[in-house]
Amino acid sequence: MTQAIANKKADSNKNNDFLNIMLKTQDVEDEDKRLSNEVILANAIIFILAGYDTVSTTISWAAYEMALHQDIQEKVYEEVMEVTDGEEEITYEMLQKLTYLESVIEESQRLFPSAPRLERQCTETITIEGITIPKDAIVTIPVYGIHHDADIYPDPEKFIPERFSAEEKAKRNPYFFQPFGLGPRSCIAMRLAQVEVKLCLAKIIQKLRLLPSEKTEDPVTLIKTGQMHAKNGIYLKVQRR
Ligand code: HEM
Repeated sequence: MTQAIANKKADSNKNNDFLNIMLKTQDVEDEDKRLSNEVILANAIIFILAGYDTVSTTISWAAYEMALHQDIQEKVYEEVMEVTDGEEEITYEMLQKLTYLESVIEESQRLFPSAPRLERQCTETITIEGITIPKDAIVTIPVYGIHHDADIYPDPEKFIPERFSAEEKAKRNPYFFQPFGLGPRSCIAMRLAQVEVKLCLAKIIQKLRLLPSEKTEDPVTLIKTGQMHAKNGIYLKVQRR
């Protein structure tokens, strides 16, 4: 990374990528606004962690659920075939039309949100519905709890992608689903992540049938501290279509 910073500084091509934006702060007058190399390095690491593991686990959970629900996987396959007209190439426009696959991904994110809890620090004392939250208090948002609340999602442990049809979504409070967080500090790369996950799954489903293997756990053992993941990993079998 130190080398990457040195290379960037030497590079005359100052495009607006993330590293260049961070490096530019080192030229500003106000010392408080300059980012040190260490802070730049820490941010780069966060980007890698926030950007790769979350995307790959989201893909894994959707693949896991499709392996366990062959009828749903078949519906996704048919949708992909119809939208792509049997062609291999998948364009950005085609991705927008894969609405059932999108529901499958969202239902997987409901059951297995990468961040099972989110936090905010209260900036001023406030009373909401009779509860006073003092300034500086840390408030935890129980994302996993909300996503598994039977009053919001009946039969909450069941995988039902139809919960995320446009009609069903319109009936629900948007705060009841927050795999990317909400508000000004939500995931900055949500759109990119959604494209990555969708494209990868569509490409897999085009060519392969996902099946459970002897090692596939159902129900799966979860670790919910920090970023949520399957304790013993996710194992599936694939078959060429
Ligand atoms: C499916 C994939 C992803 C999921 C589920 C996800 C989820 C999240 C969540 C829950 C947060 C915290 C939001 C909050 O506190 O309200 C977050 C923040 C963040 N994410 Fe993502 N993320 C994903 C992909 C990515 C990618 C691909 C990148 C970068 C290329 C990324 C970069 C970030 C960054 C930098 C933040 C911190 C934003 C801030 O504090 O202002 N994420 N993400």
